[in-house]
Amino acid sequence: MAQDQEVSRREFVKAAGAVTAVAAAIPAVHGAPAVQKVRAANDQVQFGIIGTGSRGQYLLKHLKGIDNGRCVAACDINADALKKGVDFIGTKPKEYKDYRELLASKDVDAVIVTTPLFVHFPVTRDALMAGKHVFCEKCLVFKPEEVHALRALHLERPKQTLQTGLQRRYSNFYQTVKQMVDKGILGKVHHIHAQWHRNMINKPSSLWTMKPDGEKNIANWRLYRSMSGGLTAELTSHQVDIADWMFGSQPEFVMGLGSLDILKDGRDVYDNIQLIYKYPNGQKMTYSSISTNQFLPYFNGGRAEMGEIIMGTEGTVELTVGGDNPGVLFQPPIAWWYREPPKAAAETSKADAKKKEALVAGATMVAGGGANGPIPIMTGDLNFTGKESFIDKEVKFARRWLTSKGVILQEEQKNPVDTELESFFDCCRTGKPPIANLEIGMADSIAVILSNQAMDEGRKVYFNEIEKMGRKG
Ligand SMILES: NC(=O)c1ccc[n+]([C@@H]2O[C@H](COP(=O)([O-])OP(=O)(O)OC[C@H]3O[C@@H](n4cnc5c(N)ncnc54)[C@H](O)[C@@H]3O)[C@@H](O)[C@H]2O)c1
Repeated sequence: MAQDQEVSRREFVKAAGAVTAVAAAIPAVHGAPAVQKVRAANDQVQFGIIGTGSRGQYLLKHLKGIDNGRCVAACDINADALKKGVDFIGTKPKEYKDYRELLASKDVDAVIVTTPLFVHFPVTRDALMAGKHVFCEKCLVFKPEEVHALRALHLERPKQTLQTGLQRRYSNFYQTVKQMVDKGILGKVHHIHAQWHRNMINKPSSLWTMKPDGEKNIANWRLYRSMSGGLTAELTSHQVDIADWMFGSQPEFVMGLGSLDILKDGRDVYDNIQLIYKYPNGQKMTYSSISTNQFLPYFNGGRAEMGEIIMGTEGTVELTVGGDNPGVLFQPPIAWWYREPPKAAAETSKADAKKKEALVAGATMVAGGGANGPIPIMTGDLNFTGKESFIDKEVKFARRWLTSKGVILQEEQKNPVDTELESFFDCCRTGKPPIANLEIGMADSIAVILSNQAMDEGRKVYFNEIEKMGRKG
């Protein structure tokens, strides 16, 4: 984590503004640089990482165990963060302070962008212009003008992979729930509730605690609207993406309330946001993120902070991606399914009606409801393939039984972060489009921009307004 930041934000912004000139200095082949060819004989994509702070180091820890990519370059404006990143990966990458020099290297096929949000666009733009494939952390872009500019640039360069860091899209649990939604297992899915509640007072995370020099210190970028989208960008972005995915569309409009109630240490981002998204066909997502209490009223209160509830006419699913950082979120992804009580059979006689009255008066209905869940959701690795040995089949049978009874929790076969990174390198090599592609990243960024606008202006903001925002003239 960049603690002692020497470069002031103003200096940094100036440097970021100079990128256009330098982009022109990046070696060009026949005008625009060609897409960097993935050339390693061993099929490894040679990548550079830009921004080796908290997320960069976390990804590098994962990247260490991924063999279809090799880190050959690393860059950070903070020497301490750069050293940590280089030590984590252990492949002796070439070190850079200026990302434009890294982009000029012919050894680099692809870049991973883990800079603060306000620096995503300049780095991603320059990387694409230098012919590199790009994996950029969420949110892809920060401002409306960047939405339009990046779309246009990507259209010109369709052969370059551009993937957004929305790891839930790569989780087996989330993919299973999406299949349940699409197959109608939950009936008509019309409502989603999601929350991400943290307690920053009792357990202040180093990421969010104010460092010296306030807004002048780039280490505080998350706490200022000039550099960050606040809770909406850092947390809601993951979950509004899930709602878009499950509902299969983007919202029509968003309304909400945001305020800074408790963490009044000089920051200007909200510490309490409440949002309602209206999707086509009346579907809605209600959303809450607060910074002063981490209770999660899902999974019988057994998890903390974040999760989503997907509700349909035939059932409900609660799910969370958990996390693998030591602390409150050191827990694997899980999903629980609850079925709605069966529809009452039509009464055929007065005697039937009397019988029903008696049931409602007693506790039978409640007992019936309890029998409908929760059912822990299992993912594909517990399916029988018919190719198992006798022992493997017995083990699988036992695991299925214990999982269905809630005795053991099924773990994700692979951490979704590993899957998204492996998948990125695979897309770079094969030209396959990424799952979390440009449009998914864009929809996510647009939702963040417009949600903040809805709270700031206290009005309903329509999603088609983005087309007119940030355009010159
Ligand atoms: N997908 C997820 O779940 C997830 C989780 C955490 C963070 N993130 C995202 O990752 C990004 C980085 O977050 P973080 O927590 O690592 O922040 P951070 O402040 O810890 O790290 C950012 C690093 O970028 C460096 N940097 C800034 N400008 C630079 C430049 N021009 N060139 C090179 N380096 C530069 C900083 O010195 C710092 O070391 C954010 O966009 C954040 O939203 C995503």
